[in-house]
Amino acid sequence: MAMNTTLVINAKGGVGKTTITTNLASFFASRNVPTTIADYDPQSSSLNWLSLRSPEASKIHGADLAPRHGTGLSAARRQIPRDTQQLIIDAPAGPSRLLLQDLLVRAQSILIPVAPSTIDIHATANFIKELLLIGKVRFRNIRLAVIANRVRSSRPVYEPLEKFVGSLGISFITRVSDSDIYVDAAETGVGLFEMPTEKAAAEQREFRPIAQWVLGETDAVAAPAAPVAAAEPAYDASNVVQLAAARA
Ligand SMILES: Nc1ncnc2c1ncn2[C@@H]1O[C@H](COP(=O)(O)OP(=O)(O)OP(=O)(O)O)[C@@H](O)[C@H]1O
Ligand SMILES: [Mg+2]
Repeated sequence: MAMNTTLVINAKGGVGKTTITTNLASFFASRNVPTTIADYDPQSSSLNWLSLRSPEASKIHGADLAPRHGTGLSAARRQIPRDTQQLIIDAPAGPSRLLLQDLLVRAQSILIPVAPSTIDIHATANFIKELLLIGKVRFRNIRLAVIANRVRSSRPVYEPLEKFVGSLGISFITRVSDSDIYVDAAETGVGLFEMPTEKAAAEQREFRPIAQWVLGETDAVAAPAAPVAAAEPAYDASNVVQLAAARA
């Protein structure tokens, strides 16, 4: 089977790139799909997460491709097992143009997590414009999705996000809740999909469409109907931008 490469990227720091990367990897690994995380971030957060995993956990290969190693494409290829079916790239915040170009050559799909704050949305809008400018030709065939991460149902922040995505004619948006489950997962080297369903059912439900989108099974990811925490006020689905496919 050919390798499918997903780039998780945003120029902004702390928006959830590593969180999306590791949980996506856990989704595939828990289904016995040969999965590799390529960590391009010198902070090595994804590799640290991998190092926390128990020996019994399903195998996820880690490739250390941080720019400090001066990695080019050929060096990168050597670190990625040939049998990898799902390659997920955890990109650093503020990637150089050179690195961006390198990453765009590799990716079939791009996931852009964005924190639903006005500042982050503006920064992300600029980043996506840069992305579209750089990869004009190559980009044509790359699928692009925006994920609203750390969403709290008490704060309706989708409208600016909807406008921003719509103005660029871009794809999908889904929502990932602000939840301690993601923090627990990050701290223990476990992925959402390796947690007991009774503990992480809501998070698994909201995250699964991201994996399905990566697999090309869906062109549109519907937002989950219910909020993650039962105690939270009812989630207003009408505020959510449903995933809407588009190309650059
Ligand atoms: N949906 C979420 N719910 C709760 N906490 C989250 C969520 N997403 C991310 N976090 C937490 O926010 C912090 C930043 O997330 P993460 O490391 O994934 O961002 P990043 O974009 O990779 O950051 P960096 O730019 O530093 O690489 C982490 O402590 C993470 O556990
Ligand atoms: Mg990170």
